[in-house]
Amino acid sequence: RKDLIAIEDLSREELDIIFATAESFKSTLGRSVKKLPSLRGVTVVNLFMEPSTRTRLAFEIAATRLSADVISVMGDASSLVKGETLRDTALNIQALSADMIIMRHSAAGAAKYLSEITDMPVINAGDGAHAHPTQALLDAYTLREKFGPDLTGKHVTILGDILFSRVARSNIWCLKKLGAHVTLAGPSTLVPREFENLGVRVCHDLKQALADADAVMLLRIQHERQTSTHFPSLGEYTSMFGLNKRRAAWLKPNAIIMHPGPINRGVELDSDLADSSRSVILDQVTNGIAVRMAVLYLCASTKSLSTAQ
Ligand code: CP
Repeated sequence: RKDLIAIEDLSREELDIIFATAESFKSTLGRSVKKLPSLRGVTVVNLFMEPSTRTRLAFEIAATRLSADVISVMGDASSLVKGETLRDTALNIQALSADMIIMRHSAAGAAKYLSEITDMPVINAGDGAHAHPTQALLDAYTLREKFGPDLTGKHVTILGDILFSRVARSNIWCLKKLGAHVTLAGPSTLVPREFENLGVRVCHDLKQALADADAVMLLRIQHERQTSTHFPSLGEYTSMFGLNKRRAAWLKPNAIIMHPGPINRGVELDSDLADSSRSVILDQVTNGIAVRMAVLYLCASTKSLSTAQ
């Protein structure tokens, strides 16, 4: 497979290979000499048409640790703002001899489109509300680290703005492939019943949604994607669904708290919980390096194998 576009494209076996590869890379992160020669001579272009801190930096660090040359291009600093098409941008990046492209874009389907018009491996770093596959992989990696490699029967509650969330969609696919039970929780406008068609439980009662969770994954309210007025305001959301100390007492004692970031402290999650011992939020960020090293390495290996044939 040359590209990583969405979790639904991956088999269970491919997920296991990614986790095993990430594990071997994670063991190298604490070493004094952190660089591995695996991608020496490979040029990786990070093309981000939406803001990012974690994903862009983690991909840059991952590529650097594998000795690749990495160049980051922000959408607003590229000729896209002058009207150049995404197709022409990609073909020019290829003509400049880049070997791989990592892209974040506001349009669902943009990464798939790119993978169809270029020979370079394309890694989706988030496309609209569709998919954020490396986030789901690092979330599952973190869950495996906390609960052991078999997530069968574990309960994960995803709480917040599910409707507009690519993180939620990718996590639903990933967790279900790994045998976990997924509950989606939040207000009915942001968590419509139609999600049950994906084989998950939809629950609008927060106490009930938290009661059996081994992990609760909070999501930010994405006001930038909400164009209609029937969604709750931030204040309304917080008063009904924000996770605070009182509501966290509804969780099992060993349940962990996750968040893909960026956190809006005091909105979907209170600060004292975000910084508490049951929060694994910064572990998720660190694991994002190892998981992205694995994805870069595996996609690049497939490319070189297919080129050699
Ligand atoms: N989790 C995530 O995608 O964060 P960034 O938007 O900072 O990359």
